[in-house]
Amino acid sequence: MKRTTTCGTLRAADAGRTVILNGWVHRRRDHGGISFINLRDRYGITQAVVDQDAPAELKALAAELRNEYCVALEGSVRCRPGDMVNPDMSTGEIEVLVKRLVILNRCDVLPFQIEDESNAGEDLRLKYRYLDLRSAGMQNRIRLRGEVSFAVREWMGAQGFREIETPTFIKSTPEGARDYLVPSRLYPGKFYALPQSPQLYKQLLMVAGFDNYFQIARCYRDEDARGDRQPEFTQIDIEMSFVDREDVLSMTEGLMGYVFKKTLGVELPAKFHRLSWEEAQERYGSDKPDLRFDLPLQDFSPFVEAGSFQAFKDALSQGAAARRAAAQKGITTAGGAVKALVVPAALMPAPYSRKQIEELEAHAKIYKAKGLAWMKVAPAGSPAVSGSPAASGSPTVSGSPVLEGGVSKFFADQGAAIVSALGAGPGDLILLVADSRRSVANTALGAVRSRLGRDLNLIGGAPRFEFVWIVDFPMFEFNEEENRWEAAHHMFTWPQEKYHNTLESDPGSVKGDLYDLVLNGFELASGSIRIHDPQLQKRIFNIVGFDNDQAERRFGFLTEAFKYGAPPHGGIAPGLDRLVMIMAGQTSIKEVIAFPKNSFAVSPMDDSPGIVDDRQLRELHLAIND
Ligand code: AMO
Ligand code: AMP
Repeated sequence: MKRTTTCGTLRAADAGRTVILNGWVHRRRDHGGISFINLRDRYGITQAVVDQDAPAELKALAAELRNEYCVALEGSVRCRPGDMVNPDMSTGEIEVLVKRLVILNRCDVLPFQIEDESNAGEDLRLKYRYLDLRSAGMQNRIRLRGEVSFAVREWMGAQGFREIETPTFIKSTPEGARDYLVPSRLYPGKFYALPQSPQLYKQLLMVAGFDNYFQIARCYRDEDARGDRQPEFTQIDIEMSFVDREDVLSMTEGLMGYVFKKTLGVELPAKFHRLSWEEAQERYGSDKPDLRFDLPLQDFSPFVEAGSFQAFKDALSQGAAARRAAAQKGITTAGGAVKALVVPAALMPAPYSRKQIEELEAHAKIYKAKGLAWMKVAPAGSPAVSGSPAASGSPTVSGSPVLEGGVSKFFADQGAAIVSALGAGPGDLILLVADSRRSVANTALGAVRSRLGRDLNLIGGAPRFEFVWIVDFPMFEFNEEENRWEAAHHMFTWPQEKYHNTLESDPGSVKGDLYDLVLNGFELASGSIRIHDPQLQKRIFNIVGFDNDQAERRFGFLTEAFKYGAPPHGGIAPGLDRLVMIMAGQTSIKEVIAFPKNSFAVSPMDDSPGIVDDRQLRELHLAIND
């Protein structure tokens, strides 16, 4: 009873053929002595029929079938009567009249039904992942993932890239997250680490002369899981020699273009948008803006001085004072900001209520905003709205828009100027955040922007893929708690040439040759041109507070290698899980990983992490300290 065809292939033209199908009982329905069996495999569903006049044993066997029994059946293909044709099924024109039926395996009571998308709780889905994976949704996504990997290999191979594996037992070389460690049996007290990425190895491959490398690489990071993060994940890791930033960006654009066309049939633009890190912060309050909608942040500070809202004035003056104080220590900071976000009336189903604005304010406060101020542009045709502070404070020229509500009373004289500068219109809502730290004002209002994108359904409708490069990232961030500079990405990033003379004197201004690829508000890929000069590398280590000894201990093998004619090189690493997640229209990478961990880094199916025998611990020279 080995299958002669699959459950997704038969059409009207196959009528009359005798076939054998193998698969799972998706549903069984009985109608007046006739059993309809929907048989499913990964190719589709075929309707099989055990007729009224079938032999009694066959009918008895059919009556035994329950969902998810694994069966083999033999029968003849026939066209369905006209009114029974199901246009929603690829095999909807035909059915198979069963002559022989074999139950290959029965199925226990199911923990949940196999639907197109399971609606069981996450832990239950993960405990019975092999059942969850039977759903059409999971089958499609895992198939897409395989196709994406295959397309990546096709394209990279065609471009002359070599796929080279790098070790997954390596020396612990901190890269930002916490390492997963593997104790050594042979060397008591010593550990391997699992790589957070193949970063150092791919750079060594460049020293070794493999000028175009790629690898679909597993990476391991001991950090808290989130929707777009897993403790183990996969990168499309890429490195190239004798290249500059433009080469890496256009290679990546080519790769994405090929993968989207090949697997989804979607045509991407040949070149992606580009924003500097600073523009992204100022305009969208994020280094991973979702450009499927605009809603830009705007500068409100020009109106603060002539206005009378003390909270805004304080934010700017405290920001300026902090900036002067930092400048005396040789640190460049951005000062304060008051930022505005105009929500056009046309995007709101109804004017926002006070309660809705309070919810947005609570959201802004998660991102450290002190508040979320607001005002509205009076609706079209409304004369000076009686009782509104703006109206009573300053009658305006009839016909020109008036601000009302919220903090409008503090800006009564500037209504028309504000409305015109912000490009607002009647009925629009203006949201404002002021802070003595520019980054807080931007980030908090940016978070409000993202939330509005969801709440107002600005990203609904047909799937869209908005790529944007974020370039010119700062090299260093000042850690105020530890009073020292830190690398904003990793320590191997090439500082842009024009800053080489001021690295030590003004680290805060240094921009790195470092880029992120953002897709629909997710950081899809990160990369940089690397340092290949051992002297420059030492200077960077020193700025982030690694003395020569420490640097030697941790990264000695890399700096040593760079003494032997290291070529200029750079690369990038798109996250495969995130890529497939976005392509599949999902918001959690678990939906595109066959066997992911849950949000607590646990696998409910095999119960890992688990305890091990005392003997295993002894062999590894470990003792559990409770
Ligand atoms: P980075 O740390 O930014 O850069 O990672 C690159 C990309 O990998 C994906 N990614 C993750 N996906 C799922 N779960 C995680 N925990 C996770 N962490 C990262 C993201 C991210 O954009 N070595 C450098 C790359 C380089 O410079 O070439 C690196 O690893 O999509
Ligand atoms: P208050 O004068 O403190 O009652 O604040 C009036 C309004 O201004 C409230 O809606 C606050 O949320 C808002 N607000 C106060 N401080 C800020 C700030 N720094 N940025 C934005 N809004 C603020």
